[in-house]
Amino acid sequence: MTAPALTPELEARLLDTAVTAARAATDHACRNRHRRLEVAQGFAHDVKLSLDTECQKIAIEHILERFPDHAILAEESADTATATSPPPGFEWIIDPIDGTVNFSHALPFWCCSIAVRLAGRSVAGAVHAADFNELYTASQSGPALCNGKPLHVSDVPDLAHSLVLTGLDQKHNPRGERYGVFHAIADAIQKTRIIGVAALDLCRVAAGQAEGYFESGIYTWDIAAAGLIVERAGGRTETLAALGPHRWCFLATNGHMHDPLRKVVVEALGRG
Ligand code: IPD
Repeated sequence: MTAPALTPELEARLLDTAVTAARAATDHACRNRHRRLEVAQGFAHDVKLSLDTECQKIAIEHILERFPDHAILAEESADTATATSPPPGFEWIIDPIDGTVNFSHALPFWCCSIAVRLAGRSVAGAVHAADFNELYTASQSGPALCNGKPLHVSDVPDLAHSLVLTGLDQKHNPRGERYGVFHAIADAIQKTRIIGVAALDLCRVAAGQAEGYFESGIYTWDIAAAGLIVERAGGRTETLAALGPHRWCFLATNGHMHDPLRKVVVEALGRG
């Protein structure tokens, strides 16, 4: 089956839909903030909120109203046990609340991330960080924007002057390698930060506020929209390993210090 044609008009409609759906989801989360501790499922280092599922439902309704025959891959309903290939046509990738733990603690570092892929490649994406009033967008042939203003990655050329955003994969990687990689990155650069919201971390790389982002294990819905935003802002993204259904070891940078950071990470991962 051949992939459907992506005209400029369709690309604009897809982006507009991603924005509308992301805004609708964050609007619901904000209006129901008083319910931020309603837990649907708890884990040692993570949480699923009732609001995750509700926001996801709202986003899906917005998307299917406009594109009823498109496929959906969404965090709260995804099958993370079975490996599948992306469909040949359009597929929407939704993280209704990225940074759920932050949101549940009333920390403002959370967002809704929505991307649409064609044959597995992101062609439009929106990240809405409601508490910062920041809407990040990009499309395959359009610029990366924050609230309509162009974004560009930083010019920082080397590791010594770089700030890298990262995470600790506590749920899926209990063996301790994650601390080895963290130490290796921290020793090589100016500063690491763990903010706990992958999509927004990547948008901060696109905005030139951080030079890099790395996670040893991250899901497709955390990176599908913001990865495109980094690329359209002039940065570089790279999947270092496929870890299982929808899960990746992933690096994104301003491009200038990509190879040196990649070397640090790959060596540390190799040491286990
Ligand atoms: C999480 C955040 C966090 C990252 C985790 C993700 P969620 O997403 O993006 O920064 O370190 O790996 O699972 O669960 O809050 O949508």
